[in-house]
Amino acid sequence: MFNRRKFLQSSLLSSAGLVFTKKNLANNHPSNKIITNDPIVISTWSFGKAANDEAWKTLGTGGRALDAVEAGAKIPEADMNNHSVGRAGYPDRDGHVTLDACIMDENGGCGSVMCLEHIAHPISVARLVMEKTPHVVLVGDGALQFALANGFKKEELLTPESEKAWKEWLKESNYKPVINIEEKSYGNKTTASNIPVGPNNHDTIGIIAMDTKGNLSGACTTSGMAFKMRGRVGDSPIVGAGLFVDNEIGAATSTGLGEEVIRIVGSHLVVEYMRQGLSPEDACKKTVERIIKRNPQKRDDLQVGFLALNKKGEFGAFAIQKGFVYSVKNNNEEKIYSSPSWFD
Ligand code: GLY
Repeated sequence: MFNRRKFLQSSLLSSAGLVFTKKNLANNHPSNKIITNDPIVISTWSFGKAANDEAWKTLGTGGRALDAVEAGAKIPEADMNNHSVGRAGYPDRDGHVTLDACIMDENGGCGSVMCLEHIAHPISVARLVMEKTPHVVLVGDGALQFALANGFKKEELLTPESEKAWKEWLKESNYKPVINIEEKSYGNKTTASNIPVGPNNHDTIGIIAMDTKGNLSGACTTSGMAFKMRGRVGDSPIVGAGLFVDNEIGAATSTGLGEEVIRIVGSHLVVEYMRQGLSPEDACKKTVERIIKRNPQKRDDLQVGFLALNKKGEFGAFAIQKGFVYSVKNNNEEKIYSSPSWFD
């Protein structure tokens, strides 16, 4: 698969932010060089570039990977142009913005919130669940109660733009799937009014980092499937599905149709394949194969991408369909790669 891998580079990325157009992309190959104990951060999609930049403020100064991934995940959570993560996320079909997130540290600690409403940074609440409670998961009203008790501000998260898109969707309530929405909408800077809407227009930020001590952590946060059924939870806040970190082996995260990832406990499986000696890319590919076994035909409505980092600092990804890209930052490079895929 190596020679099929395409590399998308946003060269000379401006500190003012990434303008993601076909023009500034180039073919190349990811580096697989071993950079043990050099810090690195990788994240899903091109909007991961801004998350990586934020994470790097911690990683590049010798900080902890856990702090880096939380800080990085908060960038798309706060981004008003991002309708699949955080405060500007599209609502469920009843108009409620419900957010899902989980986080894992180097000690196997984990915390998660599911169906959390009115809180702009679910990833930080998930971290507090991990650090301040004897539990792993808090959901719905209980998660909100916990957040408020810990000083988080209650906010209306349904933005006028999201409300408009939801009302537009309600006219037909048509569950027409749309995959790779991040590159179709956010990445190409389209606006809410021309974003195709459907149940699968959701793309998660999964972010994984290794710090200068060689410790791994990860975070995963999403508003989930746009216009989903009330109470629906995808893979992102489910430890082992949307994210898994094993500090001895590596870490993995996923994006795409969460139901298919949950069915195979995808991110945990990627890490287990790495434990067996597979490279991050091959581990992601073997995991995609599990989904393909259940879905052998190419489907317009089915995209899943896995992204992984091993303890040696090697990284890789694999997706069901082309279109999945991921962002990488370390001491040597700051790049956006195109994931290889099962179907062209
Ligand atoms: N992967 C995000 C979701 O399915 O909600």
